[in-house]
Amino acid sequence: MASFSSSSLSFFVTVMLVLGRISSQLSPNFYSLSCPSALTTIQTEVISAVAKERRMGASLLRLHFHDCFVQGCDGSVLLDDIPGVFTGEKNALPNANSLRGFEVIDTIKSKLESKCNATVSCADILAVAARDSVVALGGPSWVVKLGRRDSTNASLTDANSQLPSPFLNLAALLTSFANKGFDAKDMVALSGAHTVGQARCLLFRNRIYNEANIDPQFANLRKQNCSNSTSGGDDNNLASLDQTGTFFDSQYFKDLVELNGLLHSDQQLYNNGSTDSQVLAYKTNKLQFFHDFANAMVKMGDLSPLTGSNGQIRTDCRKINA
Ligand code: HEM
Ligand SMILES: *[C@@H]1O[C@H](CO)[C@@H](O)[C@H](O)[C@H]1NC(C)=O
Ligand SMILES: *[C@@H]1O[C@H](CO)[C@@H](O)[C@H](O)[C@H]1NC(C)=O
Ligand SMILES: *[C@@H]1O[C@H](CO)[C@@H](O)[C@H](O)[C@H]1NC(C)=O
Ligand SMILES: *[C@@H]1O[C@H](CO)[C@@H](O)[C@H](O)[C@H]1NC(C)=O
Ligand SMILES: *[C@@H]1O[C@H](CO)[C@@H](O)[C@H](O)[C@H]1NC(C)=O
Repeated sequence: MASFSSSSLSFFVTVMLVLGRISSQLSPNFYSLSCPSALTTIQTEVISAVAKERRMGASLLRLHFHDCFVQGCDGSVLLDDIPGVFTGEKNALPNANSLRGFEVIDTIKSKLESKCNATVSCADILAVAARDSVVALGGPSWVVKLGRRDSTNASLTDANSQLPSPFLNLAALLTSFANKGFDAKDMVALSGAHTVGQARCLLFRNRIYNEANIDPQFANLRKQNCSNSTSGGDDNNLASLDQTGTFFDSQYFKDLVELNGLLHSDQQLYNNGSTDSQVLAYKTNKLQFFHDFANAMVKMGDLSPLTGSNGQIRTDCRKINA
């Protein structure tokens, strides 16, 4: 290494950058010249948001998922509706009254605009913020590939049809993920994201009152804040998705094995089916879960990015450039 001249080093770096672009179109070094402070700027804001409220880490992770599953990781989820002019994804059934973290993304975006304007995409901010959130909550890290550009449209229809519902059975969950190129192993690993964050009563009411594959004590505990009728006014009451919802760990899989899954879809991963063995493996081997989760997140981040001259770099993540 000592004999490497700086010109041969920069040649080497250039070749690697070009090769990186050819193989995947995205590259971890995408902003190293155009916005060297991009990654630290995002990380600082995520750490501060999570310090203020740990749930925000979960919310930011989910935003990236809901972005990527709907026309690829293109920032489409961030576009605001403009009545009569533009219909985005925010009011889709899986998103409305549920997605959060938009203000944190706005803060990051405005910091980045003042440091290096019109350079860092909203789609990339989501990908990096998801990784930094997982790390801030105690989970694994991974290298985020960059260079995604932002969409100039969104799809309410796809958001309604392509994001998995919590009422799906295992077969339908597997199909939903297979449609995006994920196998069963990826699907179980990615579902481990429910080791953090919360869900609303209306999405787990039927499970705690009517399902048999649930621990009765756990069901009773959850019933305390989620009455059996929608007229009780507690549809939006929250419960943690696993017993340690502010830490990224393997508790989610322990909960599933004890029939403490909160959502119907969660418990489907451990219900005398083909994914039971993987749940059992992750329950005892946190590092294996972390490893598989990180790899699956990289794969999710590769879902049909806009690159080259496609799309744009939005200056405001909520709207298309004028
Ligand atoms: C396997 C299929 C999945 C289904 C059916 C599903 C469904 C849900 C539902 C219903 C909620 C609660 C929403 C609410 O109460 O308003 C939720 C929360 C969450 N989901 Fe998923 N999800 C799935 C996969 C994923 C994946 C792949 C990720 C990320 C990689 C993810 C990350 C999260 C996070 C972090 C939360 C908590 C958000 C918060 O507290 O703000 N989910 N999910
Ligand atoms: C970025 O900032 C420069 C210098 O302030 C300005 O000239 C340019 O118009 C800005 N570009 C965009 C796209 O806002
Ligand atoms: C959004 O734009 C992309 C890329 O230009 C295009 O392929 C897609 O069909 C558009 N989607 C909608 C819902 O118009
Ligand atoms: C019910 O909700 C309240 C208010 O959010 C919370 O403090 C309490 O811990 C919850 N109880 C259970 C059993 O989840
Ligand atoms: C709901 O719970 C109340 C009080 O526990 C009970 O009287 C009622 O029969 C239940 N209703 C249904 C539909 O289960
Ligand atoms: C699996 O099958 C056994 C034996 O029929 C049953 O006792 C158990 O409740 C089933 N469900 C789960 C989640 O293991």
